[in-house]
Formats: sequence, C-alpha cells, structure tokens
Amino acid sequence: MAQGVDDLSLLRTIVGALPFASRVTVDIDSLLSGGVVSVVGKGTYHQDGVSTPVAIKHTKSDIALNDKFSPLESRNILKFAASSQQVDAQILTHFQHHAHIKVPEVVAYFERERVTILRDFTHDGYELFQDVIVRGLTASDVSLFATIGTTLAYLRSEMAHMHHVKGVENKELQIEERTDELRVSLYDGRMRYYNQVHSQLLDRARSTFTWTDGHPKNMAVNKAGNVIMFDFGRSIPCDPEYPVANFLGQIYLFGLTGSVAPKEVVRFTETLLDAYRKTYTQLASTPTNLHEQNLVWYISAELAHRGKTMRWIDPKLVKIDETRAKLAVDHFIDHVFNKLHPITTLIDFEHAFLQIAEHLHDKDDTYLRPSISSLSS
Ligand SMILES: Nc1ncnc2c1ncn2[C@@H]1O[C@H](COP(=O)(O)OP(=O)(O)O)[C@@H](O)[C@H]1O
Ligand SMILES: [Mg+2]
Repeated sequence: MAQGVDDLSLLRTIVGALPFASRVTVDIDSLLSGGVVSVVGKGTYHQDGVSTPVAIKHTKSDIALNDKFSPLESRNILKFAASSQQVDAQILTHFQHHAHIKVPEVVAYFERERVTILRDFTHDGYELFQDVIVRGLTASDVSLFATIGTTLAYLRSEMAHMHHVKGVENKELQIEERTDELRVSLYDGRMRYYNQVHSQLLDRARSTFTWTDGHPKNMAVNKAGNVIMFDFGRSIPCDPEYPVANFLGQIYLFGLTGSVAPKEVVRFTETLLDAYRKTYTQLASTPTNLHEQNLVWYISAELAHRGKTMRWIDPKLVKIDETRAKLAVDHFIDHVFNKLHPITTLIDFEHAFLQIAEHLHDKDDTYLRPSISSLSS
C-alpha cells in the first residue's frame, strides 16, 4: 500500500512539471497499476473545455528491483526499461488510425519525462483481457481468439516494415530471459532442443521487428468482440511467429491452473491459428503455414517461463493448488521434450495437454507425476 501512495505522488509530481500548453491541465485521481518499473495513473485531461478520461503511464528512472525478478529480467529492466517507453509510444502512435489494429488513443507524449497520456479504454467499454479470463471465459468468447489471431497477423505484417522505429532491448538477452526456465528444464542431456528453440527465435533469416509481450494483461476487449493491444516497448527483431506462441502459452497455462477449461483451450487455439493463417496468407499473398514444431516448442517455452515459478501470474488465475499446477507444467515440458521422441505437431501437443489436464483436475491427490507411459496409453 505504501508503494501505491508513493507511486501516486511520484506520478503527480512528474506530470505537474510537464511542459503543457497553458490551456491544458491534467488531474490524476488514482493508480491503475504501480510497480517497480512503470506507474500508470487514472485521471482526466482538460483542454479547451474538453475533458478526456486518461491513463497516464510513466517509466521510472530509479528502479529498485526485488526478488520477483529473475537475474536476466533484472539485467534487461535496469538497462532498457526507461528507454523502452519511447518504443512503446512510437508504435502506439503508428497504429492510431489503423483499420485492423486497435490501440489506445495517444493524447500526448513527453519523451524526456517518459510520460504517455492515453485515452482510458475502460471509458469506451473495454476491459483488461486478463480480468475477463479471471471472471471465466465462455464458449462465445471464441470470437475474441479469432480477432486476436487476425490482429497478430496484421501486426506481424506491419511491424516487419516499421523501419522508423528502433527497438532498444538487446534481443539475445530478452530471448534468454524468455527461455531461461526451458533451458534449466532441458539442462539434463536435452540441450539440443533448447539450442534449437533459441536459435530459431533469433534466426537472422526469419527475424523481423516483433512484439514479444502480447499477453492478456496487454490486451483489452469489449462486448462487441473488439480487441485493443498495447505495451509495445519490449519489441525486438526475432522470429515473427513467436507472438502467437507467446500469447497461447499463457492460455495453456491457465488451462493447467484451472482458469480455462482444457477443451476450450484447444478450441480457442485452433480458432486463433486459423484466423492468423487466413489473414497472414492474404497479407503475404502466398499460402503461409506456421512452423509447427517451433510453435509447440515456443508455447512450451512460455509455459515454462510463466508456469515453473508462477511469477507475474495473478493468483486469481490459479484455481488449484499451486504446487500441483507447477508440477503439471514440469511434467508437460518433460513430455513435450521427450529425450527420444519429442512432440513436434500441434495435434500431439494438444493430446498430451488434454491428458495431463484431465489427470490434474480429477481430485485424486496421488497425482504428482503420472508416468509417461500411463499418459500415452
Ligand atoms: N489506455 C489505457 N486505459 C486504461 N488502462 C490502461 C491503459 N493503458 C494501460 N492501462 C493499464 O495499466 C497497465 C499497465 O500498462 P502497460 O502499458 O501494460 O505498462 P507496463 O509496462 O507497466 O505493463 C495495463 O495492464 C492496464 O491495466
Ligand atoms: Mg503491460
């Protein structure tokens, strides 16, 4: 709580000193999110008698890390977080009037002070996608996954040509951060799989400028099925097929933590992939299939990244015993990267996921690590 009060006063001080035109005033009422790195306030922007509800985002310069951060994450944050707001603002600005990619409206941006003032999307009927997942997804939410698939395809295509924006993060370091838990899991004679994931993600021939942070806390949705995406500051050149897996990895995780019904996870995945393929094929004017082995291995990397420790995962999304969920993640990773016969297709991946999820959610407390043979019978 003390942190919240401090963040609010910090934001008010920073915004109070911004070089606004004389007819502009900004009130900050409360904090939307405050943390180690960035602080986002909720308020109103007044200009010439017009009041706009806004979210005000500022990235701190003085970052005091805590032990929620992994060592690699800490290095990235200390080095790059402050300058990443410039990347975020440039990308948001680029997509202001795009027909297929919806982002929050940028009301004002101050580069030196690292403050972006955005129209508050909650006033336009949008809700953070993660909050929708916490409340519970229903069958009709499948259309959101189609929209996310379509939007990710447009983003891939647009960002590949966004040469005026330079990412600031070191791509090797970020990919290491995002695959570190997988490395640890496979550091037992299966490093060849890890090395493949790592080299594919950074493969120069495939790389284009890519959004690597597309998770349900960086998306908002409305009742009409529209999706807004934001928080682009960490974008780097890497495999442009990564974002689909980056997003789906979290949905699979929520399937294991009891927040999304496992069968729905599979249906949502297929809907998203179908929409993505169709849209990207159209945009690239040539039939485009995702590299299936990369897809399931990247999803696994994200599952390991978020699920082995559950850092940054809202406890409201973990509806079963956390240790059980972590064990299921470990077990799933082991199964995907079987020493002799790794899973390389989506259908096998989904099959293994459904079997593990089924074991996990039956109430038999003896479940810890069902043997691989019992799962593939
Ligand atoms: N335009 C907006 N309207 C309403 N809430 C917003 C807006 N932008 C950000 N937020 C809220 O602030 C949070 C953090 O913003 P984000 O840009 O994702 O920064 P961070 O880098 O801290 O994750 C979001 O998850 C969302 O809850
Ligand atoms: Mg965010």
